[in-house]
Amino acid sequence: MSQKTRIEDSVSGMNVLYLGTGFVGACSAAVSADSGHSTLAYDVDAKKIAKLRSGDRDQIESCIYEEGLGDLLVRNRDRIEFTSDYSKVEKFLDRCDAVFMCLPTPEINETGESDLTYYLEAARKIAAALRRRNKGAQEKYIVIVNKSTVPIDTVSRTRKILREAGVRNTGVVSNPEFLVEGQAVMGALRPDRIVIGAEKEKDFAVLRRIYQRFLNAPTVRYIEVNPREAAAGKLLANFTLFSRLAVCFDVIGRTCESFPGIHFENVRRILSSDPRIGAWGLYDSLYAGGSCFIKDARSLRYQLQARKKDASLVQEIFGANRRQLLGFLNRAETEARFDWTRKKVALLGVAFKRNTNDIRNSPALDIVPFLAGKKVRETRIFDPAAMDNFRRLFPPSPALVYASSEAEAVAGADAVIIATDWPQFRGLDELLKKHKKRPLLMDGRRMLQSAYGPLRKAGFKIIAVGSPTA
Ligand SMILES: NC(=O)c1ccc[n+]([C@@H]2O[C@H](COP(=O)([O-])OP(=O)(O)OC[C@H]3O[C@@H](n4cnc5c(N)ncnc54)[C@H](O)[C@@H]3O)[C@@H](O)[C@H]2O)c1
Repeated sequence: MSQKTRIEDSVSGMNVLYLGTGFVGACSAAVSADSGHSTLAYDVDAKKIAKLRSGDRDQIESCIYEEGLGDLLVRNRDRIEFTSDYSKVEKFLDRCDAVFMCLPTPEINETGESDLTYYLEAARKIAAALRRRNKGAQEKYIVIVNKSTVPIDTVSRTRKILREAGVRNTGVVSNPEFLVEGQAVMGALRPDRIVIGAEKEKDFAVLRRIYQRFLNAPTVRYIEVNPREAAAGKLLANFTLFSRLAVCFDVIGRTCESFPGIHFENVRRILSSDPRIGAWGLYDSLYAGGSCFIKDARSLRYQLQARKKDASLVQEIFGANRRQLLGFLNRAETEARFDWTRKKVALLGVAFKRNTNDIRNSPALDIVPFLAGKKVRETRIFDPAAMDNFRRLFPPSPALVYASSEAEAVAGADAVIIATDWPQFRGLDELLKKHKKRPLLMDGRRMLQSAYGPLRKAGFKIIAVGSPTA
């Protein structure tokens, strides 16, 4: 079912525009429509827009795999329109209350310096459109809301763009996004916090109306600060989470790997029972990937160094993360005396974590070249959601095969690497035991930890993060 071509002007809600329909833009726009606002979502990627506007859950999830997104879009189809036609954006500006900037902000060559090209281009285009339509003197007050993760002083750059274009009657607000991929829709419907960074009461008031449904929700902390505090809070929150993972991988996991007879899960129970420590992030994994932690920590490092401040602790966190991945892969040779040459390897999971098709900074991006460098004969990949994205970067070849199931991937393998924590991989022990061959099992997510004993008894050699190799 295709959606209506024109969304109605909102009677009680607001009129809200989203620029960029990636994970952040699409999920936030869906929640905006669900909150009763008339919502227009624009993206330069016409193929993505065609899928998002299709009204078909499968098509929607084939471009953004987020549980509940399809349902939410279908349910709110009368209040949301997706478009790649900028003339619709221009028209919408006449009644628009707020423009949410959900553009990519990648880093330049791993330096940490943010590439603001997409963001600034979109801001200039909006400024030019406002100028053109109203000769800079529109009566309707419009707030430009920054949802992208950007350097701390970006709001002043956005203001400058509007000023230089001669556009008045606008506000600029920082509203960083804290969504967790894989739970983005649930997270956006039940956020733990909403952070608004603004200078003017007028801007806070517009955002309060947009987020009205959350204002008095007992579980939501609605935090109003200035724009720099909001942007800094986002970067520092991500760095705090990233460093927590690094401590877990590089110190807690390593300690458990170094002493026989220690079960990682038992150590975790002791640690997490202390309310000062808490439970989040106390798991061992081969790598902390994803689109945000690494990029945002590098951005923080870059911004500190640009101010001649010491960023060595931030730097060390990357080192710990990297050490974890390489250390895990090297254990095959050093601890299991496994020679990769001419071997068949099953790689299970190319998404950076479960419940997403996002492969940005996924460990698989490093594992595939590592295996090629070790001259393996064939790497056979399976992932329930992310194979299309991965295939675009690593096309199939005789040495790189895409399997249709985990069973097909592991059949005849000499080594099996679990790189993503998809719940279905927890059943792998039974599958593996059916085969005569006993591949080296490399569990990068401790998915099979409850079965390590029986698997070892059945003749499997296991290398697992957080466990010594028997
Ligand atoms: N993904 C996350 O988990 C997450 C969480 C919090 C914050 N963020 C931040 O939010 C921002 C967006 O992240 P994302 O994951 O949604 O990115 P994404 O790459 O998934 O989506 C960005 C979208 O913007 C579109 N785009 C590019 N240029 C455009 C333009 N000029 N006009 C309109 N659309 C344009 C792209 O086609 C793409 O669809 C980034 O700054 C990111 O750091 C992401």
